[in-house]
Amino acid sequence: MNAVLKEAAVALRPMQEEDLELIMAIEEQAYHYPWTPTIFKDCLHVGYCCWVVERDGILAGYGIMSVVAGESHLLNLCIHSVYQSLGLGTKLLAHLLDLAVEHHANTIFLEVRPSNFPAIRLYLEHGFAEIGVRRNYYPAKMGREDALILAKTIVPDGGCR
Ligand SMILES: CC(C)(COP(=O)(O)OP(=O)(O)OC[C@H]1O[C@@H](n2cnc3c(N)ncnc32)[C@H](O)[C@@H]1OP(=O)(O)O)[C@@H](O)C(=O)NCCC(=O)NCCS
Repeated sequence: MNAVLKEAAVALRPMQEEDLELIMAIEEQAYHYPWTPTIFKDCLHVGYCCWVVERDGILAGYGIMSVVAGESHLLNLCIHSVYQSLGLGTKLLAHLLDLAVEHHANTIFLEVRPSNFPAIRLYLEHGFAEIGVRRNYYPAKMGREDALILAKTIVPDGGCR
């Protein structure tokens, strides 16, 4: 018998408001303090870079980044738990970094919980470095949790470092 192993098709596309029901299901499963649909709608309406990643046509994750006055801010990056560790977060992050370059951003910033090891590893692998801490930034079970501020410089010749 011939076993044919077909590689999953991965595609990136801009987020649409119709995606929000699926996105909210992923968001609420991924975070203890999820964004609301209104926050996602606001991001779409103000024209932030809002993208989804699909695996075999199934919406598996999303990323949102603002670019204002040469500064870019990665606001959300999330992959459904079923599809994690398959390289989708890497693909989406690389795409958002390319968009930051296209939009002539000088620096890209993000906040991450110090307890979020998978995310921190992903960002460090992509050349982000810790530049500071925002005290009591996130809600947490026991009061509040600090945020690490990570940044990546985008060099003028169009590349990232
Ligand atoms: C962080 C997140 C986006 C990573 O997405 P992903 O698709 O699983 O990541 P990838 O498969 O592309 O893996 C990329 C890197 O992330 C890190 N990583 C992913 N899963 C990990 C895990 N379970 N433990 C440790 N590191 C992990 C590794 O560095 C990995 O690189 P490697 O495969 O070379 O070791 C995903 O875990 C997620 O959505 N988490 C919940 C939401 C969240 O916390 N978002 C970040 C908010 S700041």
